[in-house]
Amino acid sequence: MHNFWTFYIQYQKSSNFTANLKVEEKLKLSVLKETDAGETRVAIVPKSISKLMSLGFEVMVETNAGVSAAFTDIDYINAGASVVAGAKEAIELSDVIVKINPPSSEDLANLKSGQIWVSQLFHRLNEDLILSLESKGVKGLSLDAMPRISRAQSMDILSSQSNLSGYKSVICGADNLGKIFPMLTTAAGTITPARVLIFGVGVAGLQAIATAKRLGAIVEATDVRMECKEQTESLGAKFISVEDDGAGVKVEGGYAKEVSEEYLAKQKAAVNKSLAQADLVITTALVQGAKSPILISQEQIEMMKNGSVIVDMAVAKGGNTALSKADETVIHNGVKIVGISNFPAQIPTNASELLSRNIDTFLSHMVSEGNFKWDMEDEITIGTLVTK
Ligand code: NAI
Repeated sequence: MHNFWTFYIQYQKSSNFTANLKVEEKLKLSVLKETDAGETRVAIVPKSISKLMSLGFEVMVETNAGVSAAFTDIDYINAGASVVAGAKEAIELSDVIVKINPPSSEDLANLKSGQIWVSQLFHRLNEDLILSLESKGVKGLSLDAMPRISRAQSMDILSSQSNLSGYKSVICGADNLGKIFPMLTTAAGTITPARVLIFGVGVAGLQAIATAKRLGAIVEATDVRMECKEQTESLGAKFISVEDDGAGVKVEGGYAKEVSEEYLAKQKAAVNKSLAQADLVITTALVQGAKSPILISQEQIEMMKNGSVIVDMAVAKGGNTALSKADETVIHNGVKIVGISNFPAQIPTNASELLSRNIDTFLSHMVSEGNFKWDMEDEITIGTLVTK
């Protein structure tokens, strides 16, 4: 079996090589296998290969890039891509390199002038990385820097991944609870519905509300953005408002930018009753470019019911509770605090499918007749091109 694969991959590479000689002008795009610990997704799934080819790219995929998301090398080959033995070789052969997470130090060492790197780059937090790309003459397109405008919605990986994460956070919470969600009337008695409280009604929070409602829970939610009230209520959940004149919160481009200490204190008071009654709490609150706010203090955790669960979705940015730890479950005073830093990696097949669609749509926006347009009047280009 191994020999067959080695032969097949080599055959693909050699036939690819011949093709390269014939069609020199095609931009070569490679999809790398993710290297971050715990990452199971892949940036491009086989379904996107024909779209990328129609844009004028010749597509290569690093061997086993999709395997943990249930996409095999043979699926990519059948879709029209060729398979390359390793990241170094893929980078060497490419004009455009696509990955989900920022380049590893090896990737960085292998990049050369004139290449285009497409991935999340978190440029506000990774100044050194951006400077390295610039000094090498590599153009960096950052997927997490997509502007929040309606025409970019289909290219927004933060949205697509948050949506799935919101669903999975509820499933994770349900799995950690010793209770079920719906009210159940049985011959042995009636089970009361679970109470779910959600902090942050952005993309993830809205999906968490919808999922918890579908499972039969009583759902409450809170957010600093008042437009979330109507959205929460339209899903049949109760919105907990914080009495504030608006001065405590700065919102910019759809993101909460700054939340004052005074506002956070008022919020704590507003949610305490619901917190004490909750079976499951899901926290999704992020503040762009900053550490996530602590919305639940240790004292508040100590007010919660024995056996209740908090799922902290903001843990990669420091967490929304005083006791959350990334990728650990902390039990304090009978309350389980589950911190998961990469929910989409727990549902890699769907997460990769949506990511891939976001990326192929983004590339189709950026490319015309097989070449990048670099339209510096375009908001999407300006927003995502984070290297000078
Ligand atoms: P996010 O992931 O940055 O934050 C999650 C939520 O936490 C936000 O709703 C935020 O207001 C909330 N939050 C922050 N601090 C909080 C606090 N102290 N207490 C309670 N909540 C707090 O945001 P997300 O989900 O990525 O998007 C937020 C909004 O941006 C969306 O609801 C949508 O309106 C808009 N959006 C627009 C897009 C587009 O037009 N292309 C794409 C994605 C989102």
